[in-house]
Amino acid sequence: MHSNCLLITPHKQKERKMVGQREAEQPIIPSVLLLPLPLQGPINCFLKLAHLLSLSSDHLNITFLNAEFVHQRLLDLPSRFPHVKFSQFSDGISGDEPRTPAKFPAMVGFLQAEISRRLPEFMESPAPATCLIADGVFTSVGERANELGIPVVYFSTLSPCCVWASCFLVPKLVDYGELPFKKGMDLDEPVSDIPGAADTSLRWCDLPGICRTYDMTDPYVQLVLKEFRELPNAQGHILNTFDDLEEPLLSELRLLCPNLYTIGPIHLHSRTRQQLESEQRITSNSLWQEDRSCIAWLDAQPSGSVIYVSFGSVVPLTMDQLTEFWYGLVNSGTRFLWVRRSGMVVEMEESEEISLQVPTEILEGTRDRGFIVKWAPQEEVLAHRAVGGFLTHSGWNSTLESIVEGVPMLCWPNGIDQLVISRFVGDVWKIGIDMKDICDRGVIEHMVIDLMKGRKDEFSRRANRLSKLAGEAVREGGSSWRALHRLIEDIKFMRLEVPKDKF
Ligand code: UDX
Repeated sequence: MHSNCLLITPHKQKERKMVGQREAEQPIIPSVLLLPLPLQGPINCFLKLAHLLSLSSDHLNITFLNAEFVHQRLLDLPSRFPHVKFSQFSDGISGDEPRTPAKFPAMVGFLQAEISRRLPEFMESPAPATCLIADGVFTSVGERANELGIPVVYFSTLSPCCVWASCFLVPKLVDYGELPFKKGMDLDEPVSDIPGAADTSLRWCDLPGICRTYDMTDPYVQLVLKEFRELPNAQGHILNTFDDLEEPLLSELRLLCPNLYTIGPIHLHSRTRQQLESEQRITSNSLWQEDRSCIAWLDAQPSGSVIYVSFGSVVPLTMDQLTEFWYGLVNSGTRFLWVRRSGMVVEMEESEEISLQVPTEILEGTRDRGFIVKWAPQEEVLAHRAVGGFLTHSGWNSTLESIVEGVPMLCWPNGIDQLVISRFVGDVWKIGIDMKDICDRGVIEHMVIDLMKGRKDEFSRRANRLSKLAGEAVREGGSSWRALHRLIEDIKFMRLEVPKDKF
């Protein structure tokens, strides 16, 4: 990789500086473009990053490339981020149409083309872009930026354990002819005959979502494979993690991507800096209206008694799965707070749910011990003293938010990086249970009881230890604090260089 890229002013930037000096005797101001994937998790991460970068706003121009759909749902962004310029663009999907997983490949393709086309606009004076920070999925935009002489840093908002598995294991699986999986293969077997895999406890069923395909020509699979092949070509990589959580894997990742900035957990980092700077708490980045009535309900519950249930912003549920979860939760006798976002259940219109034939004992159990909302202020919920466990789809943001609050997890992963994360929660960090590929009311009931009672102490002890380490990482002098400082300095002093062969 380009370890020699640091500490030298890029060739094209030098050229531009000379031109600038001749015209106006003004040096170039470091200007960073932020390009998130317009989905809830990545948007959260990029807005927190914008906040952290804006702490040096006197030295840094920040432009946030925001999908119109996101911008319209977060109209207060310009007032909340006075130092950030927001530039809007279409994501190719009309209006409020749901951004479902099936639409991702087309959406990412559209965005890559649209942003690549518009990149030259951001090269113009008075503050031409000197660095692009893009979600790791936008490798074509990254290539185009390099052609224009703009250094690129990818921010992979997926979990680093999945990035690691995708960069090191998946290419080998393809080479060894193990992908696509053979029909009838036992996915519970460990992945042991692939070099590098023996040191982990990953089974075939724990590999990233794309490994489950039976069609390697699927456009989504191709997109993801391309992303991970091209990821190392950037001049730097930001990861939302902290060194103490994933160190052995991070060392291996550094072999491929030497310039890693591990600045997470980014939401805690942003919150800690706000407290330091005595800033007002940044209000929500939620793309849906938060129902705060759940906080009043939690206030009335005993400490550690409630399991919080949420499957994030994109995972769909079938009607059967919804029913199994509902029975499992009610039969466990545990109090629960459940986020059931609009459109979460496939095969069903929102209005139909009301007229569902739900058995009386389920409705009564829910009334006695349950509370259901469409969208919750999740960080606040997880930090609430009444919450003792989290039934989650294992999205990376949810997982980190749970780790930060020391809340043990029951994981029901759906795809993408969630399959790897849930294995790490259950088997590496040992702060919860991985329910992978099972959706049965009896299993759910017993696992909920195990999480909230049977194994509560052992999980909580380890989760609290990780929570403490996360706090140390983002405090002044901690590993994430230092990584952020280095990132800002590298951007400010334009130490990131595009290798000459790239433009
Ligand atoms: C997607 C992918 O599904 C996931 O695998 C990947 O790791 C990140 O991108 P998503 O499914 O939305 O993300 O899950 P997650 O990463 O957990 O992000 C959800 C975000 O929404 C969290 O920050 C959470 O705090 C927030 N949220 C969720 C709310 O604010 N309120 C809710 O009611 C539910």
